[in-house]
Amino acid sequence: RSDQIRQGRLAGERSGDLEHFLASMDADRWIARADLLVDMAHLLGLSRQGIIDEAPARALMAALLDLYDHGVPEEAFDERFEDVHAGKEAYLIDRVGEDFGGRLHMGRSRNDEVATCIRIRLKEEIIALLRSLVDLRATLLDVAAGHTGTVMPGFTHLQHAQPTTLAHYLLAYEQAFSRDTARLREAYARVDVSPLGSAAFASTGFPLDRAYTASLLGFSRPAGNSMDAVAARDFAIEVLADASICMTSTSRLCEELVLWSTAFVGFVRLDDAYCSSSSIMPQKKNPDVAEIMRAKAGSVAGSLAAAITITKGLPMSYNRDLQELTPHLWRGVEAARQSIPLLSGMLGSATFDAERMAAEAGRGFSTATELADVLVREYGLPFRTAHRIVGRAVRHGSLDLATLEAAAREAADFSVVELGLTREKIDAVLDPRHAVAVRNIVGGPAPEAVAAQISEQRNLLARD
Ligand code: ARG
Repeated sequence: RSDQIRQGRLAGERSGDLEHFLASMDADRWIARADLLVDMAHLLGLSRQGIIDEAPARALMAALLDLYDHGVPEEAFDERFEDVHAGKEAYLIDRVGEDFGGRLHMGRSRNDEVATCIRIRLKEEIIALLRSLVDLRATLLDVAAGHTGTVMPGFTHLQHAQPTTLAHYLLAYEQAFSRDTARLREAYARVDVSPLGSAAFASTGFPLDRAYTASLLGFSRPAGNSMDAVAARDFAIEVLADASICMTSTSRLCEELVLWSTAFVGFVRLDDAYCSSSSIMPQKKNPDVAEIMRAKAGSVAGSLAAAITITKGLPMSYNRDLQELTPHLWRGVEAARQSIPLLSGMLGSATFDAERMAAEAGRGFSTATELADVLVREYGLPFRTAHRIVGRAVRHGSLDLATLEAAAREAADFSVVELGLTREKIDAVLDPRHAVAVRNIVGGPAPEAVAAQISEQRNLLARD
C-alpha cells in the first residue's frame, strides 16, 4: 500500500529519514480514535445530505465501526503516510475498494479533520484535569478542616514572619486551585466548537450541515469562520497556559513539601509511597515525587513556550508548522493530568507534625507585629512609633518589659511602663495562639475565619 495522496501531483520515492521527519504518527496516537468518530460523523453528514449513496456509506460505516471496536490498525501508523488520517484512509480504501473508500474525504481536508480531532481529545483531557482538581481541592479542604487549630509559623522572604495555622496555609493553595478550575472551565467552552466542514480553510461547495456533525460529535456549535477554524491554535495555547499556571502552584507546594520534610524543618512526614531511597546511603528517604512534580511544572511551561513560539509567525491559514505544536499540547496536559491526582494522594497521606510547627510558630519574634498593634490599639501610640519601639527592642535581643522600656525611652523618648504596659500583658500578646485568634476578619487565620473559608470553598467546590 502506498501514499495515494502523493501519487497525483508528486513523483519519486522518499527516504525513511524524510518520511520520519514529516510524520506526526506518535502524536496521532492520541487522536486516532477521535479520528474514527470524526469519520463517522462526516459520513453520516454526507449521507444525510444525499452526497454519498447508501451502498458506500454502509460499507464505510461497517469498516469504521469495526476499527472503533478493534482500534486503528498498526499499518495506518506507517510513516510513509505522514499522518494517521492518510494512513487510515489508505487502509479503508484497501478494505472496501476505492469506489467506496475513496468517497469519505469529500468536502473535507486533513486541516479541519485534525483540528476537530484535537478539540475532541482536548475536551476529554480538560474534563479529566477538572475532575482531579476537584479531588485535590476536596483533599486540601479535608486536611485543612482537621488543622484549624494547628498553629505554625508563616513566612515572608522565607523568614519567620507571623504565626498562622496549617489550615490557613492549605486554604491558600486551595484558592489557587479553585481559580485553576474556573480557568479550565472557561477554556473548555472555547475548545468546544467544531471545525469540521471547514475543509482546507475555505469550506466546501458540498452542502454540508455543519451544525449536524458538530452536534453528533458533542460540540456546542460549529466554528464560525472556516479559515479561523483550521488556523487557530489559541485554544491549545490557552489550555497549556492554564495547565502551566496550575502546575506553577503545584510546584510551589511541592517545593514546600521538599523543604518541610527536611531535618531542618521537620513539619511533614511524607508517606513512603511518595519517596525513594538512595543506592548508596541506606538511611535515605527522598521526596522524589514532589521533586519530579516540581520539574514537570518546568516542562509544561516549556510546552507553552513552544506552542506560542511555533504559532506566532504563521500566516493564515493552515501551515504544516501546526503539526509540530500538537505533541507539546499532549505532553503539557499529560504532565498536569498525572501530577494533580498524585499531589492529592501525597497530601492526603502526609503526616503533619503539629508540635514542631507550634515550637517554631513563635520563633524569630514572630509576634512582634501583634505587640506593636497592641501598643497602638490599647495604649494609643501611632503605629510608626510602636513599630520603632518594638523593632529597637528586638535589636536589643528581647521583648521583655525592661528592654521595651529602654527601647521606648531611646527610640521615642517616653515610658511604656508609665503608659501602663505590664509583664502579663506582654506575655499574653506574645503567645502565637493569641496572634492567630485576633486575626479574625474575612480571609484571616483565626479558627472561626478559617471555618468560614472552608465552608465557602466547599460550596464553590460542590458547584464545580
Ligand atoms: N498531521 C497534520 C497535523 O497534525 C494533519 C494535517 C495535515 N494537513 C496538511 N495539509 N498536510 O497538522
